[in-house]
Amino acid sequence: MTTETSTAPLATIASLSAHEGQTITLRGWLYNLRASGKLLFPIFRDGTGTIQGIVPKAAVPEEVFETLKNLTLESSVIVTGKVRADSRAPSGYELDVEGIEVIQKVPVETPFPIQLKEAGVDFLMEHRHLWLRTPRQSAILRVRATIMRAAAEYFDTNGFTRTDPPILTPNACEGTSELFEMDYFDDGKAYLTQSGQLYIEATALALGKVYSFGPTFRAEKSKTRRHLTEFWMIEPEVAFLELEGLLNLAEGFITHIVTRVLEHHRTDLKVIGKDITKLEAVIAPDAPIAHVILSEAQSAEPKDPETAKPTPTAQSISTTEPGTPIPASTTWAEAAPIIPASTATDPVTSGAAGASAARSAFPRLSYDEAHAMLEAAYAAGKLETPHKYGDDFGSPDETYISSQFSKPVMIHRYPAAFKAFYMQPDPADPTKALCVDVLAPEGYGEIIGGSQRIHDYDLLKSRIEQHNLPLAAFQWYLDLRKYGSVPHSGFGMGIERAVAWICGLDHVRETIPFARTLNRIYP
Ligand code: 4AD
Ligand code: MG
Repeated sequence: MTTETSTAPLATIASLSAHEGQTITLRGWLYNLRASGKLLFPIFRDGTGTIQGIVPKAAVPEEVFETLKNLTLESSVIVTGKVRADSRAPSGYELDVEGIEVIQKVPVETPFPIQLKEAGVDFLMEHRHLWLRTPRQSAILRVRATIMRAAAEYFDTNGFTRTDPPILTPNACEGTSELFEMDYFDDGKAYLTQSGQLYIEATALALGKVYSFGPTFRAEKSKTRRHLTEFWMIEPEVAFLELEGLLNLAEGFITHIVTRVLEHHRTDLKVIGKDITKLEAVIAPDAPIAHVILSEAQSAEPKDPETAKPTPTAQSISTTEPGTPIPASTTWAEAAPIIPASTATDPVTSGAAGASAARSAFPRLSYDEAHAMLEAAYAAGKLETPHKYGDDFGSPDETYISSQFSKPVMIHRYPAAFKAFYMQPDPADPTKALCVDVLAPEGYGEIIGGSQRIHDYDLLKSRIEQHNLPLAAFQWYLDLRKYGSVPHSGFGMGIERAVAWICGLDHVRETIPFARTLNRIYP
């Protein structure tokens, strides 16, 4: 200990504005150190931010200057100093250091392995436990925490009950080829859950509006930048809710999350390097969103009359569908607690909420409309490969579609053939499923997948059989269609996909403290 530091009040870097002109104590780590003759410029971090200190040799006791001058990066310290406003400083403040106490000095022989210069991503992932300390990674984790909190808050304050499903399950939800399998005592096999959906369908029929929030697992051997083997999913499920209400719910949900992130993390987003205007556009009142693609799609001649599908029209792309904008000031906590038989009176699903508030309508395209848009883009030389009608959209397709809009795009009514077994067919065209994928802006791809669920016993049973799923394991799920079945719908949002989009990250591996991917389970 080089000086007595305990008398000044404890503060955090994030709260320095409340301490301007005062001498305070900070507890944290030495993040960087520059020396310039008789001046030292240490940068300290404390988990809430970073601040630069100023240490003129003449202004501090000799031992304070010497201690700091010889201090190694990431040594833990308690610092006292006076907070001074400085408009040039990123945080707006600097610290005139008066004293320092070193808790643990990182040995000179074994310096902190992550230096401030660029390091390769493999090296950084191998040292993830230390990489997390760097300002950008810390900022990402703070934004992640807010995304998770805002996501849960949206449901908690809108009459939903959180009902968490089991993680060990006896059957698949999203496809048998993607299951992590293990032995389960005498009962044979158990699997790590892919989605809580099937279980929250049961709790939705008990409680009306429910959600689950927890880790989910996918064993597919995918190396793409969007895939984790373990990720966090938040899933609402609502009884008496049909597809259109589900779109309204998803729109209000995303709007709320982005609103909260912008309220709390402008500085963090700057550190991360995200273009904040892109997020502001997501929650901005209705922007003209449809005309760009409409004119393009309409001017293109279908190449193959066999597969030609209806061209989008101003009416069919329902950009004017009201969503559920949730400005911070709206008292949406007062939303109706019980979902009525007609969703038209539930503010979160009817799109009726916030009539006086600015609207943030997300574009809605059917699969057919999205296909027509891709055909037009291909014809215009804007896409390298044509999209085949009936196939799922590939990454370049999704990127193209989302790049046409400044808001997330909701694509609904995909061909049932490549969607999950539980999706309700569209009565207008039973080859289509009443489902939705929400594509994030800026080419980030799918962040939400959801659907209306089959509520008819016989239809669901035949789908289970068609998909070669074990009927016995799904008997309880079929029971839900036997005892007071109702139309119901829900969706799932992967937190890491949302973090990647909102923070503008190239890869989901930086969106979670310790990513689990095909080739990484350390640290
Ligand atoms: O589209 P998915 O597979 O849908 C379901 O699991 C439904 N049962 C959800 C529901 O309706 N309740 O997954 C939902 C979301 C995706 O949109 C994506 O955000 C995320 O979960 N996701 C992944 N995130 C990271 N890594 C992966 N391997 C992911 N797979 C899905
Ligand atoms: Mg999906």
